[in-house]
Amino acid sequence: MTLPVASFLTDLDFIRVLYIVAFTLFIVGMRMLTKPSTARNGNIVAAVGMAIAVVATLLIPSVGDYGLIALGIAIGTIVGVPAARQVKMTAMPQMVALFNGVGGGAVALISWVEYRHYLDIGGNPSLDTLIPILFAAIVGSISFWGSNIAFAKLQELIPGKPFALPGQQIINGLLLLAAVAAAIAIVTGSESEGLFILILVAAALLGNMVVLPIGGADMPVVISLLNALTGLSAAAMGIALDNTALIVGGIIVGASGTILTNLMAEAMNRSIPSIIAGGFGGGGASGGGGGGADTEGRSVKSTDAADVAIQLAYASRVVVAPGYGLAVAQAQHTVRELADDLEERGVEVLYAIHPVAGRMPGHMNVLLAEADVPYDALKEMDEINPEFPQVDVTLVIGANDVTNPAAREDQGSPIYGMPILDVDKSGQVIVLKRSMSPGFAGIDNPLFYNDNTALLFGDAKQSVADVLSEIKNV
Ligand code: TAP
Repeated sequence: MTLPVASFLTDLDFIRVLYIVAFTLFIVGMRMLTKPSTARNGNIVAAVGMAIAVVATLLIPSVGDYGLIALGIAIGTIVGVPAARQVKMTAMPQMVALFNGVGGGAVALISWVEYRHYLDIGGNPSLDTLIPILFAAIVGSISFWGSNIAFAKLQELIPGKPFALPGQQIINGLLLLAAVAAAIAIVTGSESEGLFILILVAAALLGNMVVLPIGGADMPVVISLLNALTGLSAAAMGIALDNTALIVGGIIVGASGTILTNLMAEAMNRSIPSIIAGGFGGGGASGGGGGGADTEGRSVKSTDAADVAIQLAYASRVVVAPGYGLAVAQAQHTVRELADDLEERGVEVLYAIHPVAGRMPGHMNVLLAEADVPYDALKEMDEINPEFPQVDVTLVIGANDVTNPAAREDQGSPIYGMPILDVDKSGQVIVLKRSMSPGFAGIDNPLFYNDNTALLFGDAKQSVADVLSEIKNV
């Protein structure tokens, strides 16, 4: 006899209620992720939602072998928890790529298992199950292999530079055709595990071939796109398995991943097809060294920590414009100490946050939050841009492309049209960088040659520390 409590817990209506609670928590959590002040708690809320969804799924009576599930959870926990705890902030994009890839791979494997199951019990399932299974196989496999390449590039296991074979687009087209043709053959009546494996292999090769030609620095956009695809493949699998949690969770991931991909592409003023076509960024370094003249005879002024300290100490309003170099140098804590010192002197210090500063969405917000910079001192680009004419000194710390006035003025520039931080409109601009090397877009920055710009060469953390020690003497 089944105990009343047990039959209540495994009742499908009760499980559906748990799913609805879980989805509500996903949505509330995601909403909270949109503000730095609520983001941490939002993450916890969404994680609680996921825990409820997992428990609800395990309560479904037909779920199967609990011993194997426990083993899977144990392996996932042993690998996942230390990896997530130890990852450095600058390595976060590749960690997301890896986790996303695992999701896509799981979907592709489940689709294969399901297809085998139907073959075992008598042949192809009905089309409303078969089509989602085939879609999940193609998209999940592309996502798994593409994410692996993205991970390998960002982890520098393979060169991050764009790499394309001759006739790459034709090869990609043929691979897609092979996967789709095999899927059509199955849909129109062929019952063959061999064809199914062909779909998985063609999609795997396609995932590799699509991501290989894309430069390492474009990877965050690609990872977000692959993430959206993983979500869609999971939703398709949910339709095939008739599992509401997978359908809703997958659609949320698919939709939010698509929106994020679009936002990033817009903030870089690039189209998603042009990013996928690859070959952008990373090239054309214009040589190292501090100061001197470039090939057009323009020269930059270099400055020193003592001079910067005097300018900052006598300013009334200072803006910090952080970028990728701040993350590389891990200068956020020293920047916070400098800001604290300035604020004690009555100087107002604000931070100008460009939506694609750094290499991942929210990169600067997360770094500065880590150093306990107050959230209300962080100003989004649209909010801070009108303020720059009233700013005495802007400290550009490891940012380059996101401050490049060519995006505003030079129609021939590859980044023309990308919204930028108008730092050049402030009274004085101090740029902290190590050399005259360009940023991600691989192009020169006319800001550096302006009369009101001076460059403080060196590692950003060391330079800020030098300014901080000099300012004590002012
Ligand atoms: P970048 O334009 O890449 O410039 C970074 C600058 O930091 C470089 O000029 C580099 O010059 C300097 N730097 C590097 N290490 C440093 C260190 N240890 N100390 C001091 N300076 C250092 O960065 P950004 O302005 O943040 O722009 C981001 C770029 O990435 C944009 O082009 C954006 O489109 C692209 N992107 C962003 C995202 C997202 S979602 N954020 C995704 C993909 C691509 P030196 O080498 O001379 O020091």
